[in-house]
Amino acid sequence: MNMLGTVATPPETIHTPTPAGHEITPRDRRFGRDTGYDPDKYWQNGDPVATAFYNCLSLTFPRGEAFFIESVKQFRDQTPPKLQKEIRAFVQQEVIHSREHLALNRRVEENGYDTSRIEQRIIESLAMTKGRPKIANLAATMILEHFTAIMAQQFLSDPRHWQDSDPETAELWRWHALEEIEHKGVAYDTWLYATRDWSRWQRWKVKALMMLGITRNFWGNRWQDALDLLAQDGLTGWRIKLRLLKFLLVKPGIARAIIIPWCKFFLPGFHPWNEDDRHLIRRAESDYEAAMTGKPATA
Ligand SMILES: [Fe+2]
Ligand SMILES: [Fe+2]
Repeated sequence: MNMLGTVATPPETIHTPTPAGHEITPRDRRFGRDTGYDPDKYWQNGDPVATAFYNCLSLTFPRGEAFFIESVKQFRDQTPPKLQKEIRAFVQQEVIHSREHLALNRRVEENGYDTSRIEQRIIESLAMTKGRPKIANLAATMILEHFTAIMAQQFLSDPRHWQDSDPETAELWRWHALEEIEHKGVAYDTWLYATRDWSRWQRWKVKALMMLGITRNFWGNRWQDALDLLAQDGLTGWRIKLRLLKFLLVKPGIARAIIIPWCKFFLPGFHPWNEDDRHLIRRAESDYEAAMTGKPATA
């Protein structure tokens, strides 16, 4: 039974712009586990502002990704077999991402940061999802997955993000980014399937309104979280806010760079795979292979 109270007949397949034959492959990699591994506290280019931003983003992943998994799994068994298989691979990837970000988050704490206020904000944001219709949580997941995919595109296409970073931590982010691109259509396809009996207007209205609310909360919370970490190093005041703003909007300017892909979400017929960016996956894989074997990258 759907939200409109009618029983829908499940079609065998759904047709979406996901590239034919596209495979989602969980890569079970571990980062920063070697004995003696001890990166700089400011692992991102020695820059407290950039490091604070990535650290606070990392802190959101374990709880955030657990929520994504639950939201999508709620619909898995009623979806067509191909989508079920993709959901399984999506879940495996997100579980491993969380494991590796937990390890990174532990290092943040070992560096002396109190992350309890940030954790609390994440818990409060997720508490709002309790008791909501499961379709609303799927919509929130689909939106945040779009967010992570468009950020991932930047992380893989703009080398300034990892310039002079601790190589191991940078590799963790690149690995996470490539898998986010790889599974970027899964939550969206699940949403399309779950709302297949809705009118286009109804679907657009829900996703557009939720996107606006989630965007405001996402940036508002990350801003607060980054300032919280920076304040613990005694970095406060308007100068540090200006530096954070410059980091987000100018160099490398992640918030500015995702404005256009963010806007595309509102276009009729939007689908994450309207943009085929699998070349970013291939390039990241090739760079990884090269780093492992010591041979130059081919892509
Ligand atoms: Fe992830
Ligand atoms: Fe994801």
